[in-house]
Amino acid sequence: MAKPSVYVTRQVPQAGIDMLRDVCEVAVWEGELPVPREILMEKVSDTDGLYCLLTERIDAELLDAAPRLRVVSNMAVGYNNIDVEACTARGIPVGNTPGVLTGTTADCAFALLMAAARRIVEGADYVRAGKWKTWGPMLLMGSDVHGATLGIVGFGRIGQAVARRAQGFAMRVLYHDTYVTEADPALGATQVDLDTLLAESDFVSLHVPLTEETYHLIGQEELRQCKPTAVLVNTSRGEVVDADALYQALHEGQIAYAALDVTEPEPLPADHRLLTLPNCIVVPHIASASVATRTKMAVMAAENLLVGLKGERLPNCVNPEVQP
Ligand code: GLV
Repeated sequence: MAKPSVYVTRQVPQAGIDMLRDVCEVAVWEGELPVPREILMEKVSDTDGLYCLLTERIDAELLDAAPRLRVVSNMAVGYNNIDVEACTARGIPVGNTPGVLTGTTADCAFALLMAAARRIVEGADYVRAGKWKTWGPMLLMGSDVHGATLGIVGFGRIGQAVARRAQGFAMRVLYHDTYVTEADPALGATQVDLDTLLAESDFVSLHVPLTEETYHLIGQEELRQCKPTAVLVNTSRGEVVDADALYQALHEGQIAYAALDVTEPEPLPADHRLLTLPNCIVVPHIASASVATRTKMAVMAAENLLVGLKGERLPNCVNPEVQP
C-alpha cells in the first residue's frame, strides 16, 4: 500500500521528522521564512496529513484545495491560525501540543518580567555602548519583583505555572479568568475581576488564548486603569494587546514598561514605533524555545499526525467531536 503523504511547513526538530519518515512520504518546506500561500495551496492538493505552524493560515479555502487531507497537526499549543470550525465541518481532526511547553513558556514570562523590572536589556545596551564609567548610585534603578503584586490574566496551565514561580518571589498573586473559577489553593492566588487586577498589579502577565473575546483585551481603557509603575508582560498572542494603545501608554507614562514575546503585527517591523521606546522589550516569539521543549513539541505534533492518518483518536485534539 502506498505510504500516506505528509507536508511539513518548515524544518522542525529532527526527532519529529524522523517519526514521520518511518511511515510516510514526507516533504518539508526548507525555507527559513513561512511557505508562501500559493505553494502551500498547491502542496496540500495531494497531501494526506498537514504538519503546520502558527505561521500558516489554515482556512476553508486551503481545506477546499486539499481533498485528501485527513489530519491537521499544529506544532503549537495555540491554534488561532486554524479555522477549527472549517476543519470540523470537513471531519478533519486538528492536533496541538499542550502541556509540554507550559514550564518553558512560564520561565520565559518570568524572564521578561524580571528583565523589565530590573532594566536588564537597557543595562546590557548601556555597557555595550561604552557608557559604563562608574558605579552610579542612581543608575538604572528599577522596581522590585519580590513582594510585588502580580496579576495573571488567563489562569490555565501556563498562567498557573507563572503563579508557582511567583511564590518563590513572595509575590501577591491575583488572577482573572472567565473560565477558571476555582484554582488550587496551594497556588496562593486570589481571583479578582479584570478592573481590580489592573488597578492593583505591579506586573500584569497575559496568558489567554487569542479568541474573538480576547482580541484587544488590553486596550486604551485597560492600560489607563494600570498603575503608572506597572509592567505588562505578554507571552500569549500579540493581538490580545492593542499595539497602538500600548505605544501611547508607554510613551505617555501611563504604564512603566512592557516586555513582549508576541506582538501585533508579528513579526514586528524593525521600524515599528514600539521599538523606539527604551521601556519596551520585544523578543521574537520564543517563549517555548528551549531545545528540549521544541523537540517535545515536534514529537507530539508528529504523534498527533500519525494517529490521525490511521483514523484513530489524536492524543491532543482541539475538535474532539470529529474523533472516532
Ligand atoms: C506558541 O505560541 C504556541 O502556541 O505554542
